[in-house]
Amino acid sequence: MRNKSTKKLLISAFIILSIFLLFNIIVKEVPLTAADHLREEIKLPNPKTDGKISIERVLSQRRSIRSYLNEELTLTEVSQILWAAYGITEKKDRPEKLRGGYRTTPSAGATYPLDIFLVAGEIESLKPGIYKYNSTNHSLIPVKERDSRNALFMTCMQPWIKTAPATIIYTVKWERITSRYGKRGAERYVFMEVGHSSQNIYLQATALGLGTVAVGAFNDGKLKELLKLGEGEDPLYMMPIGRKKDD
Ligand SMILES: Cc1cc2nc3c(=O)[nH]c(=O)nc-3n(C[C@H](O)[C@H](O)[C@H](O)COP(=O)(O)O)c2cc1C
Repeated sequence: MRNKSTKKLLISAFIILSIFLLFNIIVKEVPLTAADHLREEIKLPNPKTDGKISIERVLSQRRSIRSYLNEELTLTEVSQILWAAYGITEKKDRPEKLRGGYRTTPSAGATYPLDIFLVAGEIESLKPGIYKYNSTNHSLIPVKERDSRNALFMTCMQPWIKTAPATIIYTVKWERITSRYGKRGAERYVFMEVGHSSQNIYLQATALGLGTVAVGAFNDGKLKELLKLGEGEDPLYMMPIGRKKDD
């Protein structure tokens, strides 16, 4: 008699526990913490703030390079290039302030209206695909997990976009600059800023023995679709990066 009631009690407890667990798994939405979001991101190696080649030599050697060795880039090289383009150089305590801090590139009113995408083809320890650069964490946020070099080539028909192991793409979120500077921001400041930043890529690539070229001729609509850009966002510039062939 006692055994029977203990058994019943155990079964009831088991059923109640199962319902409770199922409720937590299926019904109750467990909110993602900041750490969960970070886990999805790929932390990049820390950038160097010193090098072996003088700025004068880099300036005198800078050239647009359109043919690359058939070799992968290292994640360290890509990390350094992304940092040179739009990396944080002076952090702010509150990351939302100045969108993370002052950067390698000047920006009208420190509004930082640009976003930077990486189309990765052959990069050591990085899956081919499209990623967005997060300056604040110096990390990559996956956007598309598929080799998109051919699709990117179809937006511009320029062969170096297909053969480069990686391409960096600049886009703009207009609201970030027009909310402060209106038409002047949209007609002037954005293009000045992308010029500052892309020159950093030219110079950093030269210093690393890599090659790049600024590409401004492409189909806006096709590129917008490939990067899944939203309303109020537009592509501006592309820069394929590869290992420079010896002269
Ligand atoms: C705004 C702008 C757009 C450009 N667009 C392209 C392009 O679509 N394709 C290309 O191969 N080069 C492009 N270039 C690179 C120029 O052709 C190159 O800078 C020029 O020939 C001078 O050569 P250098 O950069 O080696 O000094 C562009 C450069 C600028 C500044």
